[in-house]
Amino acid sequence: MNSRVIVFVALLCATGLCVLLRGSMPEFPQLQISRCSCDKCLTEEDPWLMQHLNKSVQPFLSADYSLPEDAFNWWKRLQLESRDYSTYRTTVERLFQMFPPSPDLIESSPDRCRTCAVVGNSGNLRQSHYGPLIDFHDVVIRINKGHTKGYEADVGTKTTHRIMYPESAMDLDDSTHLVLFAFKIKDLEWLIKAFSTGFFGRSYAPIKSTIKANKDLVMILNPAFMKYVHEMWLKKKGRYPSTGFMTLALSMHMCDEINVFGFGADSDGNWYHYFGAVNKNLRTGPHPGGQEYDILQQLHKAHKIHFYNGWQ
Ligand SMILES: *[C@@H]1O[C@H](CO)[C@@H](O)[C@H](O)[C@H]1NC(C)=O
Repeated sequence: MNSRVIVFVALLCATGLCVLLRGSMPEFPQLQISRCSCDKCLTEEDPWLMQHLNKSVQPFLSADYSLPEDAFNWWKRLQLESRDYSTYRTTVERLFQMFPPSPDLIESSPDRCRTCAVVGNSGNLRQSHYGPLIDFHDVVIRINKGHTKGYEADVGTKTTHRIMYPESAMDLDDSTHLVLFAFKIKDLEWLIKAFSTGFFGRSYAPIKSTIKANKDLVMILNPAFMKYVHEMWLKKKGRYPSTGFMTLALSMHMCDEINVFGFGADSDGNWYHYFGAVNKNLRTGPHPGGQEYDILQQLHKAHKIHFYNGWQ
């Protein structure tokens, strides 16, 4: 973008004229001020994207954020939470006595190009040789037990963020952010106890009682963000969004350029994990697999994200 144009617009704004200019913006599309220094930024100018992306929604909880009660009531039904809003609030207060009160995020800037690699666990990563490409991103987000050891050539070695919930938890190295997706109050309690006394409760699957990870890099997904993904992105289809899809939406609130790896089936239509056995009958659970995949394809076609499917 021409720096003279920026100076010109800045001067107009300083004189209050840009209010008038805004109305005539469509005639001068090149006058849009760039939000990042990538070749293409994931901006909100695209009408389809604007119907889905709401940059005002806080992706992570922080000490000074208050969850709207309607979002709590939506969230508590996901895994049949029976405790009330005030229990939620006291638990969150305890969380922030232990973990950073505000999330560690790279702020957007016209001088910066924040790149995200969102790495799912699909078997289509096998033999992909995407490793070096994935590691080249500023932010590398991995999901649940998608480990790198033994698969470096295809999935890379770097992990800046790992998405987990208690039932999928694993130990992390000192430089990786633990990003908790909590589906019930017990998941928040787990986080506190796993870093202190140990957690000995039960869930639908066995839970790790302690965890090794950097306490100062813990981030917790905002339940209202989950609701937003369900409503704005999926138009309320399915019970709630899959972890993979919520991670993709999250990346759009963290980065200017997004590349997606390890999502979807392999070239024969089979769904399995790159680190597991080939399972020809794996279903995607209660999630709107088709709808989510369609949106991924739409974003890819509109050049909003790039989707690497491993076999093109
Ligand atoms: C975007 O999110 C903010 C914060 O949650 C909310 O107040 C606003 O109404 C949302 N906008 C749209 C268009 O949904």
